[in-house]
Amino acid sequence: MARKLAFINYKGGVGKTSLIVNVAACLAKLGKRVLLFDFDTQSNASIWLLRLERWNKINSTGEGAVFSIFYPGKAKLKDIIVKDVIAGKAGEKLLPGLDLIPTTFNLVDLESEYEGDPRKPPYLLLNEQLRELEPNYDFVLFDCPPNILRASQCGVFSANEVYVPSNPDALSLIGFTLLVEKLHKFHQLTASFRTAEMGTPAAVQGIIFNSIKSGVDNEVPKMRMQLRMNQYKAQRRVAATAKLFETQIRDATIVRRAVALGLPVILVGQETEETDNVLNDYRRLAQEIIKHGEIL
Ligand SMILES: Nc1ncnc2c1ncn2[C@@H]1O[C@H](COP(=O)(O)OP(=O)(O)O)[C@@H](O)[C@H]1O
Ligand SMILES: [Mg+2]
Repeated sequence: MARKLAFINYKGGVGKTSLIVNVAACLAKLGKRVLLFDFDTQSNASIWLLRLERWNKINSTGEGAVFSIFYPGKAKLKDIIVKDVIAGKAGEKLLPGLDLIPTTFNLVDLESEYEGDPRKPPYLLLNEQLRELEPNYDFVLFDCPPNILRASQCGVFSANEVYVPSNPDALSLIGFTLLVEKLHKFHQLTASFRTAEMGTPAAVQGIIFNSIKSGVDNEVPKMRMQLRMNQYKAQRRVAATAKLFETQIRDATIVRRAVALGLPVILVGQETEETDNVLNDYRRLAQEIIKHGEIL
């Protein structure tokens, strides 16, 4: 069965999208079959991987966007997968194995306009359709916005593991704290909908530090995060296996440039020390996530 991972923090700009896109690419490069869901209405992951021209086509009609599956009689999840999403100028596949469920700006309307069966909220509808696709993948990854509203719930309900991208600062700690509280409430509210085959409700498995600047001492904020993690473990609010990930992603300008190039760092192909270093961070992180799966 596919491992299903949500990347979420109640704080924006911590690197959720950069981490998930680059980890997804490294996993695909290792031969894993990866399905990446973009559940953030800002559409950053979709614009990055499809590039503007292809994404604009979806955004202007709404056809092929994840929003369309939530309306009766409209699209099915299996029909909107963009297979091997990263393509070159002539349409050639640059990274086989990385598929995308894209989003567009209209996903925001899901928060106020859901007209489907009230007994089947969006997260259940999505879960039902995802189950048919799961056998085709090793990893299903959900890029979530910094909240647990309807769109995000779709990722959080179907995932079994939660990873929390963080910066070593006080605001990320607040974001983590809020996330754990809201996650707990969401699981309580949805417990009656869960069946054994869905697996365990998504629990925090890891904090991943991102944008680490060299020469800056991060020991105090990291220690605070570790203390909070220990408290939550004692209260069973996070998984017993949860940890601060050893791999940290350093701050590197190539990460920002990669977005403009429409490529994950692994495909940027610039051999500079900075690119090599941060690429090795992403590779190590992908390996650490694979390894973490062995103890779950
Ligand atoms: N390791 C990094 N080094 C440098 N810039 C980064 C790094 N990770 C993310 N960024 C930049 O920080 C900004 C926020 O990252 P993003 O992944 O969009 O965060 P989120 O999805 O949490 O809002 C983006 O401009 C992104 O390019
Ligand atoms: Mg994002």
